[in-house]
Amino acid sequence: MKREQWKTRIGFIWAAVGSAVGLGNIWRFPYVVGDNGGAAFILLYLLCLALVGFPVLIAETLTGRTTQKSPSDAFYSFGKSKLWKKLGLMTIITGFLVTTFYGVIAGMTLGYLFESLKGSLTHFASTSDALNFYTTVSSNSSWILLAYATFSLLSVLILYTGVKKGIESGNKIMMPLLFVVLLILVAKGLTLERASEGLKFLFSPDWKELSPSSIIKALGQAFFALSLGQGTMVTYGSYLSKKESLPGTCVPITLFGTAVSILSGIAIFSIVFSAGLPASAGPSLMFQTLPVVFSQMTGGYFLAVAFLVLLVIAGITSQISALEPLIAYFIDDKRWTRKKAVTVAGLSSFIFGIPSALSFGLWKNVTIFGLSIFDAISFLCVNILIPVGGLLALILVGWRYGIHKAIKHLEEGTQKLFNRFGFFKWYLKIGIKYVAPTLIFLILLDLLGIIKLH
Ligand code: PHE
Repeated sequence: MKREQWKTRIGFIWAAVGSAVGLGNIWRFPYVVGDNGGAAFILLYLLCLALVGFPVLIAETLTGRTTQKSPSDAFYSFGKSKLWKKLGLMTIITGFLVTTFYGVIAGMTLGYLFESLKGSLTHFASTSDALNFYTTVSSNSSWILLAYATFSLLSVLILYTGVKKGIESGNKIMMPLLFVVLLILVAKGLTLERASEGLKFLFSPDWKELSPSSIIKALGQAFFALSLGQGTMVTYGSYLSKKESLPGTCVPITLFGTAVSILSGIAIFSIVFSAGLPASAGPSLMFQTLPVVFSQMTGGYFLAVAFLVLLVIAGITSQISALEPLIAYFIDDKRWTRKKAVTVAGLSSFIFGIPSALSFGLWKNVTIFGLSIFDAISFLCVNILIPVGGLLALILVGWRYGIHKAIKHLEEGTQKLFNRFGFFKWYLKIGIKYVAPTLIFLILLDLLGIIKLH
């Protein structure tokens, strides 16, 4: 069977942007920044993106594009041993685990979309009203399960249609629209009283605010935001033709995603500070802030609906990209039909996510290492499995396969860019082989308590 390919480079960019840009940028980034003290954390995050995230993005898409295979076979082709195949499979399982908690939050945004259509999101006088509403709906088992099930069904329907039709065309329209709606929210946020305190929190660093766990959180978030460490970018790269320049496609993906994160941060923190809310409200932050602005604006009803429609779509394009590696594995390795692969992967993801969904209410008191089921799975994926997955891709490309051979492949489609910006090639060479793996390794040792970086 001939492998499906993106129609154009722009098609790949939009698909990868669709994967990268999602709730990780709009819901997760602001609350993690809030939990970790603001501007200093953002700088740490940007540093992680440049020194680690971007080289991993190149290593992963290159692995996919060169081998034209799904992660476990791609790792096998480069690594030439059963062990590497298993490690590739591990990244696929990480992606699967991500879908189980990501789907729940995305389901919640879908539930919020229905609420916004009913007009329930535009009558909040304060952030505490909005928080009460959030707590009520999210702890209601039937509300959350219905929302989560509907979201899972939508994702599966899109996955049935395959790569090109489903993913490529939709993103081209939705992503720019999302950007515009975000800009409107930012503009409104900035007119609020004390909005400038929000800007100060985001842009004027206070290094004392960083806590010992900030480094791993910044790294995990950088990986999560770029959809790394879990087979997604290897798989998407495998649908890319060799004529394209990888850096030329990866730079816009990184920039666009980062812009969306920062804009969401501005919109949300101008509200946080104008309402006198603590910045560290955690995962409920987006849900308890934005509805307050929708309630205060003329046209708030329509803006809420538009924002949530786009957020749900951004969630779907990310969710399907996290599940696609498992589907590609079933198709390539097990020779299943796409339909069977999608059904099995989609249904299992839904079922495994149910405990996370219930951890907002019915199973609130069930904890793992002091975290709710949802928080525990999200921590395990974002702060441990994903960085390990990224490290594996770097070792595979930089050492096992060999950086020289890898760079040769990278040059395909990129000669012109490398001729113009020679340093770029060196940055990638040194980044993939030495800088990025060393940093991840140190950060993981720190996480395990073996060394102390702070
Ligand atoms: N990058 C996505 C986001 O920021 C989340 C995601 C992670 C998607 C991993 C796929 C794989 O929303």
